[in-house]
Amino acid sequence: MSTRQEEIAKRRIFGIISHPDAGKTTLTEKLLLHGGAIREAGTVKARRNSKFATSDWMEIEKQRGISVTSSVMQFEYQGKKISIMDTPGHNDFGEDTYRILTSVDSAVMVIDGAKGIEAQTKKLFKVCAMRGIPIFTFINKLDRETKDAFDLVQELEDVLGIASVPITWPIGSGINFEGIYDIQKNEVVLYKAQKTLKLGEDGVFGPELEGMIAGYNLSTLRDEIELITGAGNEFDMDAIEKGKLSPVFFGSALADFGTTQFLEHFLDMSPAPGVRKAKLNGEDIEIRPEDEDFSGFIFKIQANMNPAHRDRLAFFRICSGTFERGMEVKLSRTGKNMKLAQSTMLMANERENVETAIAGDVIGIYDTGNYQIGDTLSTVRGELFFEPLPTFPAEMFALVSPKDTMKAKQFQKGVDQLAQEGAIQVYRNQYNEVVVGAVGQLQFEVFEYRLKNEYNAAIRMDRLDMSVVRWLGEGMDLEHVKDVIDSRQMLVFDHFQRPLLLFANQFTLNYFQEKHEDIKLVEALDVVNKY
Ligand code: G4P
Repeated sequence: MSTRQEEIAKRRIFGIISHPDAGKTTLTEKLLLHGGAIREAGTVKARRNSKFATSDWMEIEKQRGISVTSSVMQFEYQGKKISIMDTPGHNDFGEDTYRILTSVDSAVMVIDGAKGIEAQTKKLFKVCAMRGIPIFTFINKLDRETKDAFDLVQELEDVLGIASVPITWPIGSGINFEGIYDIQKNEVVLYKAQKTLKLGEDGVFGPELEGMIAGYNLSTLRDEIELITGAGNEFDMDAIEKGKLSPVFFGSALADFGTTQFLEHFLDMSPAPGVRKAKLNGEDIEIRPEDEDFSGFIFKIQANMNPAHRDRLAFFRICSGTFERGMEVKLSRTGKNMKLAQSTMLMANERENVETAIAGDVIGIYDTGNYQIGDTLSTVRGELFFEPLPTFPAEMFALVSPKDTMKAKQFQKGVDQLAQEGAIQVYRNQYNEVVVGAVGQLQFEVFEYRLKNEYNAAIRMDRLDMSVVRWLGEGMDLEHVKDVIDSRQMLVFDHFQRPLLLFANQFTLNYFQEKHEDIKLVEALDVVNKY
């Protein structure tokens, strides 16, 4: 029997970030295949289409062929217990996607080698960078014509501002793709021959590769490796752990090539669950995974998995102690004791009841409406709160009202609950009308659908031509602000009654700031994420 500490050290929780179509699903699937969690390719996609088909509101998901909700996939590989947090991969991603990233210990960034860094990757990267977690880069689709490998690596630096260190390096691309050189292990994996060549002490400069790969590929590889070793960043585990240096891998998820090398290096380099910041009775403390007391937080609530029962599944990350089925824990927000009777482990292929679990495990807790996103549950004496999950600045806004004014009550209840659940951000304007904000179009659609189906309140929704939000700095004179704003701005209040201004775009914001230097505006992240 291994000790709990040894067990914790085997855990890895990571999320995959990418722009749609870069190959996140394909890579996830290959990783699950390696771990034996699924047996056939196509399962992840098929699961998306079939498993949730029972659920009504998931119709949206089916119709649009996208994953609305994100879940967790767990598998084992070489003794490691790995949880992949699945983040919605479609353009219409929502705050969920961001929040998932607060529960992971590292992130894998999948980049389409032909396209380089795309918009959504950039946004998600920012969230990871904010948390300072290690970020691993997998450059995909090497079986197709791609950009130059150096240019891709340079893009990481230029566009994302992160230094990188190649762990594997491609030999050609597209029709000339011949394999990868594993710089750390000093071996070449051949694409067509599916063979691994261990190289001697001269590495790619030795004789082993002569005649094994095309002459032009070999000379390019030698030049490139010379450049990498001469002028590239040095491998620095400390910088990787701090999220300042990204290890880079090349491969083809579709051909399942380079994925094993990626997975094995990743498991070596990525961190096991570590210390988490929290507050106990208002004092800063650190929760260690090996602490005896059980603790963790809810980072996602998935509603209506089974519409007949209206139940919800709260995704819970264990941060310390041991979970045992049926145990009593305290919900810090209310001070109430809760019994964790029905909980599930979220395996890739099925949901299993879980009897025990430890730090680094993610469990699903059945919820009949008691929990909120960000809730801390623990057996710790006193009031324990993990860092609140950040709220992200909405980028799209709409004015909403019930279609039928007789349904105002249901409407209000639905809006409040969905806001609490974190499904949407809710504001009120000067006239007490409801303004909702989201980071993705799909959030609006799900919001509308759920209000109608769960709260029986059909809504009118008018999109506002606003995309940038700023809170008013402390002590601003509201009457003055009301006087100077015009149709290009809108004054609204968040649920703490804090005033904020919506602007059509960055340009109108800049213009406004120039004209009204006396009005202090604060970026959303600074306000909302104050801890
Ligand atoms: P996503 O989850 O990031 O959105 O991407 P996904 O894995 O669904 O991949 C998007 C498309 O790219 C898919 O093709 C997939 O087969 C393809 N793809 C993924 N990895 C590679 C790769 O390494 N090489 C090549 N050549 N293609 C790759 P599709 O035609 O859109 O879908 P499908 O019909 O194949 O499922």
